[in-house]
Amino acid sequence: DKATYKYTYEHLAETAKYLLERVPFRPKIGIICGSGMGAYWNEGSLAEALTDKVVFPYNQIPHFPESTVEGHAGQLVFGYLMGVEVVCMKGRFHHYEGYPLWKCSMPVRVMKLVGISHLIATNAAGGLNPKYKVGDVMLVNDHINLMGFSGNNPLHGPNDERFGPRFLPMNRAYDKDLIELAKKVWDDLKLGPIHEGVYTCLGGPNFETVAELKMLQMVGVDAVGMSTVHEVITARHCDLTVLAFSLITNFCATNYENQSEANHEEVMDVGKMRQDTLATFVQNLVLRIKKL
Ligand code: 6GU
Repeated sequence: DKATYKYTYEHLAETAKYLLERVPFRPKIGIICGSGMGAYWNEGSLAEALTDKVVFPYNQIPHFPESTVEGHAGQLVFGYLMGVEVVCMKGRFHHYEGYPLWKCSMPVRVMKLVGISHLIATNAAGGLNPKYKVGDVMLVNDHINLMGFSGNNPLHGPNDERFGPRFLPMNRAYDKDLIELAKKVWDDLKLGPIHEGVYTCLGGPNFETVAELKMLQMVGVDAVGMSTVHEVITARHCDLTVLAFSLITNFCATNYENQSEANHEEVMDVGKMRQDTLATFVQNLVLRIKKL
């Protein structure tokens, strides 16, 4: 079922009202913490680092999708990061869990309705660009919406103009100024190299075959994951300014001689290894975004 009208504007306004009645401040920036940023653990995660937290388990928020992952319900966490009002999604909804894309992206509209102007979307991804190393960060400067090619898009169905227009441009989806700012923040912190590149989202849950990875590399994909693209489309539809970055958690082998196999444990291990660096990065980033 691809219809976006399963959540009307009124449903999501109710959700926003429920949240705002329980939070004494108004977030400016939304942060989606993916597999590389503590989606599946607490200790040292960015969401943990917020002060004056107000925490909503997803399964207690009106109209939120019901979680399919035992023990990992996910949370919406409101709080201050370096004194800046933010709202964090600790964990997200993936297409492979069985949700249609409009459900996966629903929290983005909720964050819009609670008042954010900027969205920082993070994910773990496999590196296809031969220059990338495990643990590197890639700022997303564009994406290829492969699922959209076959008619699977979070905006399918009747359009509600209160969110945004029926037809929308995507050529400036990833804000150039935010990318420049992010690079400057990264360099000022002397965190080493940082990349800029093209991300694509596949449906998952399986990782890719060698032939699939060769194809993606050929069409200009630098990093491949299972999220973000539909969230960014939904965010741009309602005019949020977007920054997205990928933590490269594994290298994609595009030949049959390479014996390494992608696995979820490795993705999480690299996430844990790099979480302090990424948290420092995002903390300094929100400080600078606040001043814009
Ligand atoms: Cl290799 N592929 C996909 N689709 N998602 C990933 C990944 C690979 N590594 C981390 N996430």
